[in-house]
Amino acid sequence: MTRKTIPYWIRLTAGGLIVAVLTQVLFSDLDLIERWHAFAVDHEDWELDELPLIFLTLLIYVVVNLARHLGRAADLNADLHQEVCNREVAEAELKEAISARDAFFAAMSHDLRTPINGIKGFAEIMRNETFGPIGNEKYREYAIDIHRAASLLDGTVGQVLDVSRMYREGELKVAVEEIDLCSEIRICRDMVAGWTRADGPVSVKLECRSAIILFDQALIRRYIVNLLTNALKYAGPDAEISVRVVPDADGGIRLTVKDTGVGVDSAQVGRLTKAFSRACTNKHEYIEGAGLGLWIVKKIADAHGCGLEIDSAVGEGFSVAMTVPADRVLRPSGDCLTEAA
Ligand SMILES: Nc1ncnc2c1ncn2[C@@H]1O[C@H](COP(=O)(O)OP(=O)(O)OP(=O)(O)O)[C@@H](O)[C@H]1O
Ligand SMILES: [Mg+2]
Repeated sequence: MTRKTIPYWIRLTAGGLIVAVLTQVLFSDLDLIERWHAFAVDHEDWELDELPLIFLTLLIYVVVNLARHLGRAADLNADLHQEVCNREVAEAELKEAISARDAFFAAMSHDLRTPINGIKGFAEIMRNETFGPIGNEKYREYAIDIHRAASLLDGTVGQVLDVSRMYREGELKVAVEEIDLCSEIRICRDMVAGWTRADGPVSVKLECRSAIILFDQALIRRYIVNLLTNALKYAGPDAEISVRVVPDADGGIRLTVKDTGVGVDSAQVGRLTKAFSRACTNKHEYIEGAGLGLWIVKKIADAHGCGLEIDSAVGEGFSVAMTVPADRVLRPSGDCLTEAA
């Protein structure tokens, strides 16, 4: 609420005039004006008569302007004070909203993930026929479908939570850990092994030069899993999926996740790293996704000072390459390990 008062400079000028009148009334017996007049007459050739008028005019001018500027400063000060109060209120409301949002995400993470994990777990038991054969082949297929759908849902919830955390923290905070890149890649491949494609189990070919890099462990996993699940979701049947780690000319290393699948129009590649962006193609129409995976992948690469290159063309597969700079490579790529799973 803004305070409405008489402008300060009017109040000050009025105050000044009152003081001037009072001075004249109280000190009139000093007869200053007569004395000045006598002095001016004695020194007629100095032409002093005009001076008091000029001084008075100048004085009034200075006082009025001073008062006006002081008044303006006081008004600005009052507005500033009001603004500070408003901001304090807004800040308190924002803090409240942020803690409500954090509580919401924490509850969402728990309340959604717990039942999803339950569904996934039981579907897996049925799919693997752990307690004996299912009998009817159709039921086995349904169990596989339930497991795949629950995994997708789990992935989407994970993406949304990740994105909210990244937005919340602004700049992505990364831990500096010594990571054996090839063993992380193998762990990630095992993590997505349960993501069997509709047409059967998938093989992910590895071609890794062993390398120790400085990276955030949770984030390198998030990075690789995102790209592998994309390849599993979009590449299509018969596509080969591979992960390669090779040294580059500058002492860094290049990690490439590639598939030989359907790919996307090369003109669309540039915008796929924007949040909620998906390729416009009828090939992906029925594949679920929020359009956040590549956004997260780019954030992770940026936060570690790594370059990211995405290449694709229709019918020519999809490849994402991250260049880890030399100052993040502790042990340069060594022995080559090639395996298919
Ligand atoms: N390997 C790939 N082959 C073909 N298209 C791909 C491939 N990877 C990504 N895309 C295209 O890029 C889009 C963006 O991928 P991104 O991982 O960001 O989102 P998403 O997979 O749709 O959803 P999310 O990862 O959030 O579950 C996808 O919707 C798809 O159209
Ligand atoms: Mg994705």
